[in-house]
This record gives sequence, C-alpha cells and structure tokens, in this order.
Amino acid sequence: MRDPGARASSTPLVGGSAEPTLRDLSAPGRQAWSLPDLDVPRRNLDLPEMADAPPALPEVAERDLVAHFTRLAHRNFGVDLGAYPLGSCTMKYNPKVCDWAAELPGFRDLHPSAPAQLTQGILEAVVEAERILCELTGMSRASFQPPAGAAGELTGLLIMRAYHQEKGHPRHKVVIPDASHGTNPASVTLAGYEAVSVPSNAKGMVDIDALRAVVDEDTAGLMLTNPNTLGLFEEDIEVIAQIIHEVDGLVYYDGANLNAILGVVRPGDMGFDIVHSNLHKTFATPHGGGGPGSGPVAVVERLIQYLPGPIPTPAGDGAIVWEQPAASIGRVHGNHGNMLVVVRALTYMLALGGPGLERVAQRSVLNARYLEHLVGKEYAIPYTAPCMHEFVASAENLKKETGIRAMDVAKALPDYGFHAPTVYFPLVVDEALMLEPTETESPETVEALAKALLEIADVARQDPEYLHDAPHHTPVSRLDDAGAARSPVLTWFMEDSQ
Ligand SMILES: Cc1ncc(COP(=O)(O)O)c(C=O)c1O
Repeated sequence: MRDPGARASSTPLVGGSAEPTLRDLSAPGRQAWSLPDLDVPRRNLDLPEMADAPPALPEVAERDLVAHFTRLAHRNFGVDLGAYPLGSCTMKYNPKVCDWAAELPGFRDLHPSAPAQLTQGILEAVVEAERILCELTGMSRASFQPPAGAAGELTGLLIMRAYHQEKGHPRHKVVIPDASHGTNPASVTLAGYEAVSVPSNAKGMVDIDALRAVVDEDTAGLMLTNPNTLGLFEEDIEVIAQIIHEVDGLVYYDGANLNAILGVVRPGDMGFDIVHSNLHKTFATPHGGGGPGSGPVAVVERLIQYLPGPIPTPAGDGAIVWEQPAASIGRVHGNHGNMLVVVRALTYMLALGGPGLERVAQRSVLNARYLEHLVGKEYAIPYTAPCMHEFVASAENLKKETGIRAMDVAKALPDYGFHAPTVYFPLVVDEALMLEPTETESPETVEALAKALLEIADVARQDPEYLHDAPHHTPVSRLDDAGAARSPVLTWFMEDSQ
C-alpha cells in the first residue's frame, strides 16, 4: 500500500476497527460519578409517573469514559489539528482567548430572559460589537438576532420586503449572480421572491450588460458576495450598485467572506445597503459542525427602522435598554441571538485591534495567492484575475488524462493531514476544487498543502486506482455522503430499550 510521504501533521490519525460504544464498555456496578452521602432522610417518591426501574444506561468508570471520548475526538479532524482549506467556509484556527471570554461565568451563566438592569455587562459587549461591526462594514446599525449566515440573508430580504412594502409596491424579483452561494437563491425563494440569475462574464464577474437587461421596476434588490464565490473582487461593484439604486432597489451584501476585506474596504462604501456577516467564520467561532453561529444584519441609516428587535441601545442616562425599531420586521430568533458567539467575536476584534484585523485580510489574500501560484503548475485556474481569500482550481485536465476527478483529489488530501477542499462549487467551473487556506496558516503549511496536491496529481498518473479508494489512512474511508444527506440515520436504539 502506498504511503504518502508528506503528512504535515505529526498527530497520528487513529485507524482500524470500529470504536466500541459505551454500551460495549459497560460492566455492572461501574460508575463515573460520585456524590456525597445524603445528610437528609431518604424519601421514596411513590408517583404514578415514575418508572419501575432506572433506565438501562451504560455503567462505565470515569477512566474508561474519558478514554472513550478522547479516542473519538482523535478520530475527528478539526481546525485545532491542521489546515482545513474548505473554500467558502473559512475554517481557520480560532484563538483560545475567545473561548476564555465566552466561558466567563458572568456571560456563560446568564439567563437569556434576565432583565436589562441585571445584564448591563453583556449588553455593553453587544453594543460594542455592533459599533465595531458597523465601523468595519460602513453600516449604521445592526441586529445580532439571526443565528447563522443563511438566517441573516432571510432577515435582510425581509427588511428589503418591508422597505418596498412601505413604498406601496413590494416587488417580486431579487437578482443573484450565477456563481452565488447556494443559500442565496434559497433565501430569496423563502422570502417569497423570484430569484433571477445573472451570468458571470469571462473574467468570473457579474456581466454588467446582462445585469442591466434583467433589472427593472419590479426588482426588489440584488444579493452579492464580494469577493465572490470564485474568490474574485467584483471590479465593477460601484456600477452594479448604481444600476440597482436607479430603480430604487436595495443592494444586499452577503458578508460571509468578510475576512478578505477587513479594514481595507467597506461594503457601505461600495454602495451596499444591507450586510450580513458570519461572525462564526470571520470572528473566531468555527463554521460547521452544527454548533451555534451568528449572522448579524447591519443596515444603512434609512433601513434601521425595519431591523429585527429589540436591540440593546444606550439610553441618555448611560444605561443600556432594549429598544424596538419603529417599523421592525419582528423577531427572527428566540431571545437575542447566540450571545456567546458575539462575545467571542468581540474578543477577537479587541484582541487584534484595527491593524490586526487589516492583517487578517492581507494574510488571507497572501496565503490564497501563494497557494494558487504553487498549485497552478498542475491544476488549471479558469479565472485568472488575482484572487482574494480563496480561489477555484479545476481538475478537468487530470480527469481527461487519468480519470481522476476533483472528488478523488479531495478525498486523498486527508491522507496528507489536511482536510478536503470544497468540490464541485461554484457550478460555473467543471471539476472545481475551491481552496481557502485562510489567514491563520504559516507559509510552511501552505507549501506542504501545495506539495500534497501536486503529489496527488503525480499519483493520479502512476496509480489512479489507488486514488479511487482514498483516503487510506483515516478512521473511515469513502463515506456515502449523498446517502448521509438523503437518508440520515439520526437515532440509535439500545437493543433492550426498544
Ligand atoms: C458566501 C456564503 N454565503 C452564505 C453562507 C451561509 O452561512 P451559514 O452557513 O452560516 O448559514 C456561507 C457559508 O459559509 C457562504 O460561504
């Protein structure tokens, strides 16, 4: 069996047979807990709701329990383990100081319904995060209720709808580029609009003539991410914004890729009216994994009245109160959003400061351009404008020559100690490999990642069969990802509990 020579991570991945479950480890009488002796009389509650016997939970010693979960953690790949170049997802290393702040008991143990007079500390954190976010995006006010990027998109579109509704004509269409992130057309449809696709030009940017052709008085607005999903900065962004504003449409910025422009250029200055940011990608909470996120929506002055509320707002006497915007679209989340993700983001912003945030943008672009330069020797780069924080390469040539596809290349990378990149997205590139090395990786790691990708291309020529079965050195090999999405098995029953 071939052994990849270039594994960047020195941490061994645990391979081999299936992990025993806690049930397999269970032995009668073992326990992972200890409680002090009762110092009050024992009472038996004789209630009809009570079961006859305790549930048949596994009985495991603390030592075995900890070993079990530690072993499982070692079988996983995460941002703390190595480079995770999953384009469009910004899976970067997150500084531990952000966890420290979010775990402070004064933040962590707060009840979400506690009144403002008892929660001034966390409200001040939210107000400060809003101030910095607005400064970075060029917006006037923000609401932190939306719990994810896609939720921010829907919120922004509902604000768009409220704006047009108040003018007496809700309109029906929202324009999105053909390379847009999948959540964009989904959010547009969910908000009750028709998604009108505008094609990219030969440079991978919005085709201005095609845009002019689809925009009219029935256009509520346009959704755009810039840098776009090809990793390119829309050079005609001011013209794009002007075309939409000429029909009184609103320009929506999908700010999921904000790390590429932090402190360098602001969506507000490009002409955008509504911006969502993915705090969980850009500001120190890992994306994915199903954990809580935060997709705050920020707007220009004339749209503040529609923001979801209530919003923490400094009152005249210095206290912070909850305030409902005048024509609010209402709540989009229970309580006030995922507050601890906001605390982590604020910690990140303050720890890095203005110059540090600017370096985030510079480093994210530098790393992507370096990686693009290194892998461009082997993989075609269909759009050649200088990339920003990510780029899209193509395995089309490799496929023609060897039968090895983008998916095979991606599945081989974990054998080298790297997470797989995004594949087959955006749809405008055949055999797309979308790579985002992120700002947190060193030049050595970027070089090791490039070396792995080049070596995989070599292996494709010498031994394509080997790559069809990759990865070979991970706890599990090829998974049926379509099956996992379409027929997920989300429940497991212990034999004697059915
Ligand atoms: C460009 C873009 N827009 C929107 C989203 C959606 O964000 P979320 O996954 O938090 O809903 C993403 C996801 O990373 C994205 O890359």
